[in-house]
Amino acid sequence: MGQAAGFWILLCGCLLLAWTGLQPGSPREDQGSRVPPKPFRTLLAVPEPDPEEEEEEAAVQDGIFWSPWLERLLLPSGFPEAEVRAWEAAVRAARVLSLERGCGRSSNRLAVLSDGSRACVRVGINPEQIQGEALSFYLARLLGITNVPPVALARAGSPQWAPVQDELRRAQWPAGAIVSLTPWIHNLTGGVVPPAALRSGGGGDAGGLHSRGAGLQNRSRAELLELVQWTDLIVFDYLTANFDRLVSNLVSLQWDRRVMERGTSNLHRRPGGGLVLLDNEAGLVHGYRLRSTWDRYNEPLLRSVCLFRHPTAAAIAELHRRRDAPQRLRTLYMQREPLAGELGFLAPEHARHLQSRIDLLHGHIAHCRAKYGR
Ligand SMILES: Nc1ncnc2c1ncn2[C@@H]1O[C@H](COP(=O)(O)OP(=O)(O)O)[C@@H](O)[C@H]1O
Ligand SMILES: [Mg+2]
Repeated sequence: MGQAAGFWILLCGCLLLAWTGLQPGSPREDQGSRVPPKPFRTLLAVPEPDPEEEEEEAAVQDGIFWSPWLERLLLPSGFPEAEVRAWEAAVRAARVLSLERGCGRSSNRLAVLSDGSRACVRVGINPEQIQGEALSFYLARLLGITNVPPVALARAGSPQWAPVQDELRRAQWPAGAIVSLTPWIHNLTGGVVPPAALRSGGGGDAGGLHSRGAGLQNRSRAELLELVQWTDLIVFDYLTANFDRLVSNLVSLQWDRRVMERGTSNLHRRPGGGLVLLDNEAGLVHGYRLRSTWDRYNEPLLRSVCLFRHPTAAAIAELHRRRDAPQRLRTLYMQREPLAGELGFLAPEHARHLQSRIDLLHGHIAHCRAKYGR
C-alpha cells in the first residue's frame, strides 16, 4: 500500500516535471550545456525495483509487445493531450513580442510570446517542409506516439506579429509565409546514442531489437523505457520516411565508423527520460519525394525491430484494416489546425504512400508475431 502511494506521488511529480518543461524561462540557461544533465536513472520518476516484485516484471508480453507496466511508466515522458491542447490555444491567442536568432539554422527564430512563453519558429526551405512538420505531429497523435512536440501554424505578418515587423523584415522570410511554431522545451540534452542493437541499421548480421536477442533481462527500468521509445521512433520515422534522424547517421557510417556513438540528429532527451523527436520537416512530403534514395536504409532498419508498443501496433492494425490512414490524418489536421486549408494536405500520390507504408508495417508486425510471438 505504502509502495503504491509512493509510486503515485512519483508519477505526479513526473507529470509536473513534464508540464514545467513547457513553461517560460530563459532558453540560454536551458541549453543544457552549463548544468550537466543528471543521470537518466536518478531523475526518472520510477521507484527502484523491489526485489520481491522483480520476477513478475517481464519486459515483453506475447513475444513482441512491451509489457503494460512499462507502458504505464512511460506515460509521463511524452506530451499529454491536455498539455498539447492548452499550448495550442495559448499560442494561437498570443502576440509575438520578439524574434531572435535561435532554434537551429539561420532562418529559424526563437520567439517570445505575449503569454510569456517561448516558441521555436521555422519557415522551412519551402512550404512542403512546414507541411511535413505539422503532418508528422498529427500522424504521431493518430498513432498515440507522444514524443513529438506540438506544432501550430501561423501566418508571419498577420496582426499578431505587429510588434515584430522589423525583425520579420530582417528575417527575410517570404512575405506572408506560413510558419510552424513549437514550444520551447527546457533542459533538453542532445547526443542521444542509439541502442547497440540499432547501430548498424539492420544491415549485416546485426542483432536487431527483438525479444530473443536484445539482452533485455539485465536492463534497468530506465534503459527499458528508452528502448520502448526507440521502437516507436523507428516505426514513426519509417512511416514518415524521415531520413533526418537515425537514417542520416546510418549513411554517414560509411565514412565515419563512430557516428552512432555521437548521438542522433534531431533527437533530444528531457530530464525525466522522455525522448523528444524535434524537427520533422523531412517527414512525409519531402521524405516521400526522396524515398527511393532513403528506403534502402529505412526498410532494413524497420525490419531489424520486432518489439512494439501495444497501442502503436493496435493503431497500425486499425489503420490497415480500414485503409483510411490518409483520410484520418487529413480529418485530424483540418479539425485542429486553422491554417490547414491554406497550407494544404498531402498530394494523392503521397497519401497513397502513407497507406502503403502502414500496410507494409502491419505485414512486418505480423512477421514478427510469427517469428517471436508466444
Ligand atoms: N522546441 C525546441 N525546444 C528547445 N530547443 C530546441 C527546440 N527546437 C530546436 N531546438 C534546439 O535547436 C537545435 C536545432 O533545431 P532543429 O529544429 O533541428 O533546427 P534545424 O532546422 O537547424 O535542423 C536543436 O538541436 C535544439 O538544440
Ligand atoms: Mg534539425
